[in-house]
Order: sequence, then structure tokens, then C-alpha cells
Amino acid sequence: MPSVIPQPVVAQLTRAAVFLVVTVNPEPEHRAAVRVLCGDLAALLRAVGFRDLEGRLSCVMACGSDAWDRLFGPPRPKELHPFREIRGRHHAVSTPGDILFHIRATRMDLCFELATQIMSRLDGAVSAVDEVHGFSYFDDRDLIGFVDGTENPTDQAAIEATIVGEEDASFAGGSYVIVQKYLHDLQGWNALPIEAQEKIIGRTKLSDIELDDAVKPTSAHNALTTITENGKQLEILRDNMPFGDVGKGEFGTYFIGYARSPHRIEQMLVNMFVGRPPGNYDRLLDYSRAVTGTLFFVPSATFLENVAAEEAAPSPARPSADERGTEAARLREPSSDGSLGIGSLREVKTHE
Ligand code: HEM
Repeated sequence: MPSVIPQPVVAQLTRAAVFLVVTVNPEPEHRAAVRVLCGDLAALLRAVGFRDLEGRLSCVMACGSDAWDRLFGPPRPKELHPFREIRGRHHAVSTPGDILFHIRATRMDLCFELATQIMSRLDGAVSAVDEVHGFSYFDDRDLIGFVDGTENPTDQAAIEATIVGEEDASFAGGSYVIVQKYLHDLQGWNALPIEAQEKIIGRTKLSDIELDDAVKPTSAHNALTTITENGKQLEILRDNMPFGDVGKGEFGTYFIGYARSPHRIEQMLVNMFVGRPPGNYDRLLDYSRAVTGTLFFVPSATFLENVAAEEAAPSPARPSADERGTEAARLREPSSDGSLGIGSLREVKTHE
């Protein structure tokens, strides 16, 4: 199996992030603008990121289900579908989004500059549907005051949890990502005794220690989001960020979860919104309302480079719609040295 270069899904957690969700405008010419950006993204990232290498600027570009066929044609990632709303004790809404840019850095100015450069390349081709500027809050706490991200997998375990392998060989090196924007009822939450909050999350608030199973309710957030299959825990990688608008009384958590299959995140959501067993739902949702919900596929960096190469090919050589599937597959083969000149991205081998 050849090696492909994934996008920086497993980049380290940072102090600032921009979450930008756009839809591609319907006129046919806009498809090309987005496809050209697929190839330009690495160079834009190098240009902005070089201004402060310690700023660790990174960007993940992901595509929603409805946009996939229009932008890239067949084949499709096996598990890409529109986000399925969940109606349980609470409602997980499904909202539109063709492309997600998840931009991370230690400084907001780097994120902001890259987002600006991306949008200026896409001028007129896309419409922004949601933009959130996230910040790190004290010791990586969310606005409900708990440390968020502690149990994230790291290093090889993070790659194993997030990067598609042989289960969908044409899209190896890719990943799935679900985003949800939550707004908190902070007044209600802060009126709860700390001990009640700790039972809802399943960890102590100040010291961030997991509650003992003897005292942790089965409805605790970290209990309902722990799922296993054949005795093995199925992990995801989260990079939640607080955001808000004090003047409007808006205090939120932007949830972002990456996984090699969307099923893992969907199962966690069902446990939270419906309950495990049904009715034993996540009380965090009594104080947190999901106002967006979208699923995207993150193609590998190799895939993005090849899309741009295909776009740049002289039009007589362009494949017909029928041929595009095979052509796309051919273009996804990496060059003989396996390198695509995207030095800052980490190379991982797909499963043998
Ligand atoms: C309002 C939104 C959310 C907030 C404020 C929040 C907060 C937290 C906190 C404080 C923890 C404990 C520390 C940690 O391990 O990170 C946690 C754990 C976790 N959360 Fe969330 N979370 C939110 C939404 C979600 C959603 C939507 C999912 C998945 C669909 C999720 C999945 C997880 C997982 C997998 C863990 C780790 C469980 C473990 O292995 O102990 N969270 N979350």
C-alpha cells in the first residue's frame, strides 16, 4: 500500500482557532475556484505560518456530503453522509455546510490572517454560514469551568483513532469530522452545587480527576461518551474551544471531533441525546444547546494536491464524468518519492 500524507488532523491543541463553515455557491464556475484552492492551501499555509514558525499554524479542510459529488465526483468516501439529526431528550440539529476550515495556531492573528487569505481566494465562490473564533480559557477549561480534552488519545493512538486505513483504501489517510456549536445556560449551570456539576461531567472540577465508578453516575458525560466494541474502547480526537460574546450573553463550546469512522461520534451523540439506556441522557445538555451540527470528510493532503493538479491539466485531457472515478483514483497515487512538498505535514503510512 503506498503512503499518503494526511492533513494535520492530529495537530497539537493550540490556544486559538477559527472554525469556518461555508457553502459553495450554485453557479458552475465556483467549483473550479474551490478545486484550485485545494492545491493552493499548502502554499498559503506556508506563507502565513512562516511569519511565526513557533505559532504552529495549521489548517484542516473538510468537505460535506452534498458538496462531495459536485466538487470531486465519484468515488465517495464510504461513510460520508449528511449529519443525521437526533431527537431524544434533547435535539441535535443538522445544519448546512459544504466546506469546513479548522484553523489552529498559538496566536489568533495567524488564524485570522489565514482565514482572510482563504476567503479572498474564494471570493464570490462561497458563502460563509458560520464562523467561530475560539480561545483557550485558563488551564484548557471550557466556559463551564471544567478542563476539556484530558482523555484525548495522543501520538500513535491519536492517529489510530482518526486516520482512515484499509477499511476504505481509496480514501486512506483521510478522516471524518463532526462539528457542533453549543450555547450554555451559564446562569443555570453556575447555580448548581459544584458536586452536582462534577457528577454531570464525571470528573472533579478543580483537580480534573476522574470520579470513582462507585460515585460516578452512569449518565455522567464521560461515561456516556465511553463506547467499546468487542471489548476495545473506540476513541475520537476532540479539540473543543470556548467562544462567546459577552455583550449578547453568549457563552459557548465549539465541539469538534475527528474519527476514522463517523459512527463512533454518532454513537456518543445518541448516548448523550437519547440516553444509555434511553432516558439516561447527558445532563450537560440541560445546560448546553446544540445550535449547529454538520459532518464532513477530511481528504488526505495528497488528495487535495492531486485535485489541483487535475484542475490545472489542459481541458482536452480532462476526463469525462464517466471516467472521473478511475482518473481520480489514479491521481490519488502519490509520486514515486512519496513526497508532495508539503513539508510541514506529517507523513504516516496507511495500514499494510
Ligand atoms: C457542550 C459540549 C461539550 C462539553 C462542554 C464537553 C466537555 C467535556 C469535558 C469537561 C470532559 C472531561 C475531560 C476530558 O476528558 O476531556 C469531556 C470528555 C469527553 N467528551 Fe465532551 N464535551 C462536550 C461535548 C461532547 C460531544 C458532543 C462529544 C461526542 C459526541 C464528547 C465526547 C467526549 C469524550 C469521548 C470524552 C472523554 C471520555 C473519557 O474517555 O473519559 N463531548 N467532555
